[in-house]
Amino acid sequence: MLNNCHLNLIKLYKNSKKLLFLKIIKLKGKGYSMLTYLLDEEISKRSLLKHPFYQSWREGKLTLEALRGYAKEYFQLVKTIPRIVERIIEFSPLSKEKMLLHLKEEKEHIELWLRFAEALGISRKELLNYDGLDEIKETLNRLYHLSLNFYDATALMYSLEAELPKISKIKADSLERFYGMKEKEIKYFRIHEVVDIRHAELWRRILNNSPLKERDLLLKVCKNSLKAQNQILDVIMKTYMR
Ligand SMILES: [Fe+2]
Repeated sequence: MLNNCHLNLIKLYKNSKKLLFLKIIKLKGKGYSMLTYLLDEEISKRSLLKHPFYQSWREGKLTLEALRGYAKEYFQLVKTIPRIVERIIEFSPLSKEKMLLHLKEEKEHIELWLRFAEALGISRKELLNYDGLDEIKETLNRLYHLSLNFYDATALMYSLEAELPKISKIKADSLERFYGMKEKEIKYFRIHEVVDIRHAELWRRILNNSPLKERDLLLKVCKNSLKAQNQILDVIMKTYMR
């Protein structure tokens, strides 16, 4: 026999389902599907902005040693991004024109990262000859190998770029305000405030049309990617914030 508590729970469940349904209908008009809605939920749940390393960055509490360590280790990810976009292009059954533009932009971002690192006192030569801590290499290897096919690689790029405009703005503002860095030194971040809105939009459109049977796997790729991205920050923190 159902008591009041059970009935309230059923009502709550029905209402939340109805709300979710209405939310998705509304989002559909803005270019989302159930999958990209769930991916965004996951990205927000495991948001890098909640990580203590990025919280310290936002508050201007990172030492220069920590920022230098970050510049060296994260550079390994900056170099991996064009390789993932190359995977998408290689597997793509769709027109590759926009993807090729993204690839060109991602390759250009490497130069901007070198300038950011230079402003922190790391020479180009040092950075170009550095290939990361073992733990970073292992994590990036795992991340890269999440891109087994066209849709996996696209979900991976989406999980890397969807939140980046917001994160980049916070980083750039803090570098300017607390560390006195100039616009040309933080251009990498300023560019990502804008360009990754367009990049993520393309991946979102592709994912909206992904085969239904793939969608659980794509959600899993996103979760694993976010775990790996958080682990990269864990390793940087453990190594450079002692
Ligand atoms: Fe991008």
